[in-house]
Amino acid sequence: MNILVTGGAGFIGSHTVVELIAYGHTPIIVDNLSNSHENVIINIEKIVNQKILFYKQDCRDKQKMDTLFSNHQPDGVIHFAAYKSVSESVDKPLLYWENNSNSLLTLLEMTEKYETPFFVFSSSATVYGDPEELPLKETAPRKPSTNAYGATKQTGEDMLQTLCLTPHSKTKGISLRYFNPIGAHPSGLLGELPLGVPQNLVPFITQTAIGLREKLTVFGTTYPTPDGTCLRDYIHVLDLAQAHIYALTHLTKINSPTYDVYNIGTGKPSSVMEMIQTFEKISGVSLPYVLGPKRQGDVASCYADVSKAKKDLLWQSHFSLQQALIDAWKWQQSLK
Ligand SMILES: NC(=O)c1ccc[n+]([C@@H]2O[C@H](COP(=O)([O-])OP(=O)(O)OC[C@H]3O[C@@H](n4cnc5c(N)ncnc54)[C@H](O)[C@@H]3O)[C@@H](O)[C@H]2O)c1
Repeated sequence: MNILVTGGAGFIGSHTVVELIAYGHTPIIVDNLSNSHENVIINIEKIVNQKILFYKQDCRDKQKMDTLFSNHQPDGVIHFAAYKSVSESVDKPLLYWENNSNSLLTLLEMTEKYETPFFVFSSSATVYGDPEELPLKETAPRKPSTNAYGATKQTGEDMLQTLCLTPHSKTKGISLRYFNPIGAHPSGLLGELPLGVPQNLVPFITQTAIGLREKLTVFGTTYPTPDGTCLRDYIHVLDLAQAHIYALTHLTKINSPTYDVYNIGTGKPSSVMEMIQTFEKISGVSLPYVLGPKRQGDVASCYADVSKAKKDLLWQSHFSLQQALIDAWKWQQSLK
């Protein structure tokens, strides 16, 4: 299938492009490079050993997107392009609404106009807010979001759902709710490129280990978890990338209008302290860290029930936490 990958030069998008090719599909990347670099395209080409179709353009540019849909008639869209910093979205909510919602709206308009059969949307476990029951099932309620980023993911899911479930809809859709993507491509050619101070634990760990940051702060040690630090569901980005191909394949088997949501995680929680200790073991580096207060907005525990994805999409994660950290560390070292 021809698959339009918006945000395909980004962290998750670039790994998904590699996987799409491995499964015999033809990706078409659209990215405005607002949070990525053209080198990523060159590195994807090195890994897959072929030329990649890449358009440096903005998903909000209706005219250009129309031309692209008209020229390529994609069979499916995987929509990654969005701003993704929770804290930035607290400071600049309208920036997030403007980019995340208008990009999606433009794509859905094109999807409707060109009757694109399949659409996969990048959602997030953040739509659940502070969970009442763990592991999190897709049936858990979505809580009102405390930040614009999370709110754009909730409305993004709703926008796709309403389009897919209109009686005349030609588009079948899935929202994938990612837990915590980590790791990098084992080649050391692709990975996460956080701008400024990383918001996520693993890039902070690897940047501290390589000497870019003086020390790591463990935010909160009195949570109701086995060691008092937060529990999260860390998933290797290549496992996450594969989930998109399984989601597309699943949609090809359904003959009526459909929309659904799936958790994409490992189902296995790991604490911040476990992450530090595992990283020290795989890298041989002793991490300088201090224990600090809780961070506002952090929930104690968040991990997925992944049985629905396993049953319907026939997908499950394979990479270990150790492997994800080995790959993240290799990526950090290659950036030197
Ligand atoms: N990384 C995570 O922890 C995480 C967790 C849950 C959900 N998500 C979602 O997954 C998606 C991908 O995340 P990522 O980590 O790969 O982010 P990323 O920033 O690395 O990739 C996003 C890409 O989209 C591009 N982009 C942004 N706005 C654009 C626009 N208007 N037009 C064209 N390109 C645009 C950026 O240049 C970037 O290359 C995002 O929607 C994000 O919200 C990410």
